[in-house]
Amino acid sequence: MATANDTAAQQSPWWRDAVIYQVYPRSFADSDGDGVGDLTGVRERLPYLAGLGVDALWFSPWYASPQADAGYDVADYRRIDPAFGTLADAEALIAEAHALGLKIVVDIVPNHVSDRHPWFREALACGPGAEARDLFWFRPGRGPAGELPPNDWQSVFGGPAWTRTTNPDGTPGEWYLHLFAPEQPDLNWNNTKVREEHESVLRFWFDRGADGVRIDSATMPAKDPALPDFDSAAPPLPHPYIDRDDVHGIYRSWRALAEAYSPPRALIGEVWLADPVRFAHYLRPDEMHTAFNFDYLNSPWDPAALRTVIDATLSSHASVGASPTWVLSNHDVTRHVTRYGRADSSFGHALRQHRTPTDLALGTRRARAALLLALALPGGHYIYQGEELGLWEVEDIPDDLRQDPIFHRTGGTDVGRDGCRVPLPWSGDLPPFGFSPDTAQAAPWLPQPAQWASCTAEAQDGRPGSMLTFYRTALALRRGEPGLRTLDFRWLPVDDPAVLAFTRADGFVCLANLSPAPAPLPRDAHLLLASDVDFDPATGHLPPDTTVWLRRP
Ligand code: GLC
Repeated sequence: MATANDTAAQQSPWWRDAVIYQVYPRSFADSDGDGVGDLTGVRERLPYLAGLGVDALWFSPWYASPQADAGYDVADYRRIDPAFGTLADAEALIAEAHALGLKIVVDIVPNHVSDRHPWFREALACGPGAEARDLFWFRPGRGPAGELPPNDWQSVFGGPAWTRTTNPDGTPGEWYLHLFAPEQPDLNWNNTKVREEHESVLRFWFDRGADGVRIDSATMPAKDPALPDFDSAAPPLPHPYIDRDDVHGIYRSWRALAEAYSPPRALIGEVWLADPVRFAHYLRPDEMHTAFNFDYLNSPWDPAALRTVIDATLSSHASVGASPTWVLSNHDVTRHVTRYGRADSSFGHALRQHRTPTDLALGTRRARAALLLALALPGGHYIYQGEELGLWEVEDIPDDLRQDPIFHRTGGTDVGRDGCRVPLPWSGDLPPFGFSPDTAQAAPWLPQPAQWASCTAEAQDGRPGSMLTFYRTALALRRGEPGLRTLDFRWLPVDDPAVLAFTRADGFVCLANLSPAPAPLPRDAHLLLASDVDFDPATGHLPPDTTVWLRRP
């Protein structure tokens, strides 16, 4: 006889409510001792990931790349970077993950390629006017000798978004556009070859069993071909390169391609947009299936802000029939254990706070409460590797070891993203904490803090109250709750607006206390799980910064 669970699963495609774990391959596990994570390292730890209770794994780029932006500068989508392994390793990994019931999501970066990509090498070698240059945005410079960039656009990573080339004969040449690092030239999506190539890349990975793709910088591939100046005091509308209407055509044709597979493959967008209506456009029924909810990630640990973003998320997704997602951390942002321990707990994308006073004990307590809150909301959930170990942002990486182009291109004004990318601690009392084998030739590519001895997976395994045990328990409970598999959601009335209380189907209730004072518990409910391991329901009160899951008759 089919259970309620089976029925829910049959009705709902996997990505609608999946928990997706982000693997950042450089920092997950290093099997060959070169200090950089690799696919064999991931394969060895697939049972750990299956045991954690996640449904899918998203891999940050594993393709051949000079690693100018940690793999987001792709030189060849059909090869694996030798530092990570081989195509055969990726195929084996996909098969082994599938055998464990885990779906696989690969990363696709349509906005740009590496400056080592054969297309860009050819474009440079051919010189101005060549057809090969039309795959990118090459333009003559301004000024009497073309010595000024074609317009005033700035790179997301700092500095101008244009770099001047040298002609094959050695004279100063045209400029090319790169909205990120100079090693990441932007593609011209008006050229059909660019479209065809990306669709072929999608098929390449879908044919190898990838269950979906995460689409990098998804609002940026379409550009205003006039390349007008961008006056930030009076920004031109529409924006010359963010969220232009013609970007949607790309995803409509990708959706058709994904739907031609059985089962259909999922499209997941990296859509950083503050306007919920424009955001929802990407999730129309013929575009992407889901997108990361960065408004939620950006939100401070504040009840009014969270309530507002939850309401806005639910209504914008409902407007297009899409399933929301909930995200606390990823490889681009300050880890949330650290953010939640600060006076300003929001994430400001433009200005990463650095060495701001941080109470890690408070941040950890809130991170546990935040997990139960987010996991109880309707839709999918993302976990960034190491969250389940309670890792915090590493802030004391010496400048000469920092690798993120953001740090270097801003002259250190923005400290960059290395602090959330430090290799995971697996076991033992000293670095490399089992990240690399004992016989390793090289230290981990970023140094691990000595204090992580208490955070290793080994140290936390089976320990009641550890973050790892907590994640495993919460994920197992979530998977078993039919009430969490639907989109049912209703706020419950509360006396204190700093308490977020809502119910889902089947009597499931979530109560998060963000007030500094204890909050009364409903009398008729029994406890399923609390974020605070010492919580005693007999007190009748929920302590501050604590979330509980309850069942009401
Ligand atoms: C996305 C990625 C980020 C990368 C950038 C350029 O935002 O998440 O890591 O640097 O795109 O590809």
